[in-house]
Amino acid sequence: MALQAAKRFMWMSAVLLAAGSAVAQYSVPAFKNPWTAEQMEILRSLSISSLPKLRPDPTNKYADNPRAADFGHRLFFDTRLSSNGKVACATCHEPERDFTDGKPLSVGVGVTTRNAPTVIGAAYNFWFFWDGRKDTLWSQALASIENPLEHNMTRDQIVEVIRKNSDLAQEYVAIFGKLPEAGDTDGINRAFANVGKAIAAYERHLLPGRAKFDRYVDALAAGREPAKADMLSLDESEGLRVFITDQQGRCLRCHNGPLFTNQHFHNIGVVDPEPHEREAGRIAGIEQARADEFNCTGKYSDAQPAQCSELQHARSKSPELMGAFKVPTLRNLPKTAPYMRIGNRRALEDVMWHYRTLPTARAGKSELVNFSITGTEFDQLEAFLRTLEGPIAAPAKYLRPPGK
Ligand code: HEC
Ligand code: HEC
Repeated sequence: MALQAAKRFMWMSAVLLAAGSAVAQYSVPAFKNPWTAEQMEILRSLSISSLPKLRPDPTNKYADNPRAADFGHRLFFDTRLSSNGKVACATCHEPERDFTDGKPLSVGVGVTTRNAPTVIGAAYNFWFFWDGRKDTLWSQALASIENPLEHNMTRDQIVEVIRKNSDLAQEYVAIFGKLPEAGDTDGINRAFANVGKAIAAYERHLLPGRAKFDRYVDALAAGREPAKADMLSLDESEGLRVFITDQQGRCLRCHNGPLFTNQHFHNIGVVDPEPHEREAGRIAGIEQARADEFNCTGKYSDAQPAQCSELQHARSKSPELMGAFKVPTLRNLPKTAPYMRIGNRRALEDVMWHYRTLPTARAGKSELVNFSITGTEFDQLEAFLRTLEGPIAAPAKYLRPPGK
C-alpha cells in the first residue's frame, strides 16, 4: 500500500512537473494591450508625456529668471503683503493641498465668492480666473493683491512694504533696479507689475508630475506591460473608457490634452447661490481682460502687440459665453476638494452627481446634454479620475515657505 501510494505520488508529481513546464513554455499569455490603435492615440494625447515644454512668456521678461523666481517664492508666502498682516498667496494656495485651500469659498481678509483653483500647471493657461478676466500669469497675482477680500492692499502700500523691509528691498533692487518714489504713479505701477512678474516666475516652477495614469499609458505606448503598481484596475480602466468614449462621456470635448482642459469656457449649469454679476462668466471676463491696464498689450507688458494674438482674437459677445467658465484641469483632484468654481461639490462623487442630474443654468444655457452613463459607470469614472493624482514636479524648496 505504502509503495503504491508512493508510486502514485511520484506519478502525480511527474504530471504536475510536466504541466508546470508546459505553462512556462506555452501558456503564459503575452500581455495584450486592451485598447485599439485609435483609443491609444487618445490616451497618448492625455499623458503628461505629451505636455510640451513651458513656452516662454513674452509679456514677462523675468519669467525664467531664477533670482526673480526665488523672490517670487518669498512673496508668495509673505503675509506682510496684506492689510491685516495675515494673508499670503499661500493662505489660499497651500502646497500640502496641491495649492488649494480645502474651503468651498476662499477666505482672505474677507470671504470671497469663488473656490480657489490649483496653481499647479497654471503657467500653461492662456486665461486666468474662472472667467478668464486676466490674460497673463503676473497680472493675475496683482488682482489678488488688490482684491479687498483677498490681500486688500493698494499698489502704493505694496511698494512701501518692500521699501521698509530690507530683506525685500534688497532683492527687489538687485533684480529690478531702483524702487520708485512715493507719488510716481507710473513708477509705482511698474514696481507693482514687477512684483507680479516675480511671483509668476515662481509659479512657472509648479508643474504637474507623472501620475499612475501616465505611467500606464507610457508603458503601453512603448509596447511594454505596465508595472504591477501602474496597472489600472478594472473599474479604473472602465472609467477611462467612458471618459474617452464620445457617445457616452463627452468628457473629452472639454477636458482634453495632458492637463485635461481645452482652456476654453463652457456653461455647464453650475449656479451661484445668489444672483451675482460675476455669474455672467466669460462674456464679462473677456471685456475685463481687454480693458485691463496690465494685459498683454498694455504698457507694463514686455510683449510686442503682435505677440498678443490670444487677447486680440478671443471670442467675445457670443451668447454661448454667458455663464461660461474656464474648464479646470482634472489632475490632482483628490487633494483639491471641494469642487466647481463655487465649491458646492464636496467630493468627487458629488461632482459626478452634477453630471448625472444636469442642473439648469440661471445665466445663459448649459451645454450639457444627457449622458448615456449608468450609475456604475459614474463610479468607474470617479475611480479613473483618481489615477490622475501625481506628485508636484517642482524643486522641493519651492513647496515649503522660504528658509524652512
Ligand atoms: C483669499 C484667498 C486667496 C488668496 C490670498 C490668493 N488667491 Fe489665488 N485664487 C483664489 C480664488 C478664489 C481664485 C479664483 C477667483 C476667481 O476666479 O474669481 C484664485 C485664482 C488664482 C489663480 C488662477 C488660476 C487659474 O487657472 O485661473 C492663480 C494663478 C492664483 N490664484 C494665484 C495666486 C497668487 C499668486 C496669489 C498671491 C498674490 C493669490 N492667488 C492669492 C484665492 C486666493
Ligand atoms: C461642456 C464642457 C464640459 C464637459 C462635456 C464636461 N465638463 Fe467637467 N467641467 C467643465 C467646466 C466648465 C467645469 C467648471 C464649472 C464651474 O465650476 O463653473 C468642470 C468641472 C469639472 C470637475 C470639477 C473640477 C474642479 O477642480 O472643480 C470635474 C471633476 C469634471 N468637470 C469632470 C468631468 C467629467 C468626468 C466629464 C464627463 C462625464 C465632464 N467633466 C464633462 C466643463 C465640462
